[in-house]
Amino acid sequence: MNFNKILTIWYSEHKRDMPWRKTKNPYYIWLSEIILQQTQIAQGRPYYDAFVSKYPTVFDLAKAEEIDVLKLWQGLGYYSRARNLHATSKHIANELDGIFPNTYKELMKLKGVGDYTASAIASISFNEPTAVVDGNVYRVLSRYFGVDTPINSTKGIKEFKALATSLMDHQNPSDYNQAIMEFGALQCKPKNPNCSICPLNKSCVALQKNKINDWPIKLNKTKVSTKYFNFLVLLSTDKKTIFEKRTDKGIWQNLYQFPLLETDQKLKSINFKKHPFIQDFLENRPFEFSLYNNKDIVHKLSHQHLHTKFWIIEIDNLPQKGIPIKDLNHYPTSILISNFIDEFFKI
Ligand code: ADE
Repeated sequence: MNFNKILTIWYSEHKRDMPWRKTKNPYYIWLSEIILQQTQIAQGRPYYDAFVSKYPTVFDLAKAEEIDVLKLWQGLGYYSRARNLHATSKHIANELDGIFPNTYKELMKLKGVGDYTASAIASISFNEPTAVVDGNVYRVLSRYFGVDTPINSTKGIKEFKALATSLMDHQNPSDYNQAIMEFGALQCKPKNPNCSICPLNKSCVALQKNKINDWPIKLNKTKVSTKYFNFLVLLSTDKKTIFEKRTDKGIWQNLYQFPLLETDQKLKSINFKKHPFIQDFLENRPFEFSLYNNKDIVHKLSHQHLHTKFWIIEIDNLPQKGIPIKDLNHYPTSILISNFIDEFFKI
């Protein structure tokens, strides 16, 4: 039996029962695939259910306010995906009469849709034999065929796409693509896969060479920088705080946050009151402060480690218009801040 046949049989026996596997509707497939790029299947499901129930059609999503879309996305990270999702829904609803493009080539023209998503939608919804290559596929192929090319090199990206394409089951592109991803997630796992029960164990190069943990090969390219974030959590006598929209470009664009002071090094409590930013920001009003977390909370992003402190500032009147503390949960924010709000305010 060949590689794709073994995989599709394995898939028919082991696949998880997921709502997006019961439909071909490209709107639902698109939603699921964008969400699943951010998280694993089990964690992605509640987000998918929430999106489908709040926005059952592309027109409903197109009519939504961005703030509500970001709120529903909260916790998945990489918020530009949610902004692109919303922009693309408007394009499809308003320019394409709600009809999804039905080829890989046309799908690639949509904002936020790259090779992976276009291949997934084209194959799952429209049966086009376009191979998906995600992290699972890289792992399965590099191990099984013993491919040494780094997966994050230009050469590797091309080579793995060509290999995945050559293995494609033209009778059933949807199942082949989902089978290889599901196989990577459940059987050919990153750590400690149980190769003794693997249906491909007779011919897997990595297993024969005892190199399961060596593949896939990845170039170490990303340089991680350290940043020091100080969030100013103001508490006024009338129970308000300042929560402002981030306008600068970047992953947290349009999300809300407490006023932020970024420093070159850790900010010490003894220097807090005299920091010029604090004095300017609070317009020299008197205030009491305490540090919520003595130990920095380190939030790890792909290129940055954010060493974060939350400073609690009690003040009579806010220097700017604030919002009632009880309404903090109405605003989309990063998971870093949302966790703090849950713990500190317990709302
Ligand atoms: N990962 C992302 N999308 C998937 C799908 N449709 N099936 C299996 N794994 C996936």
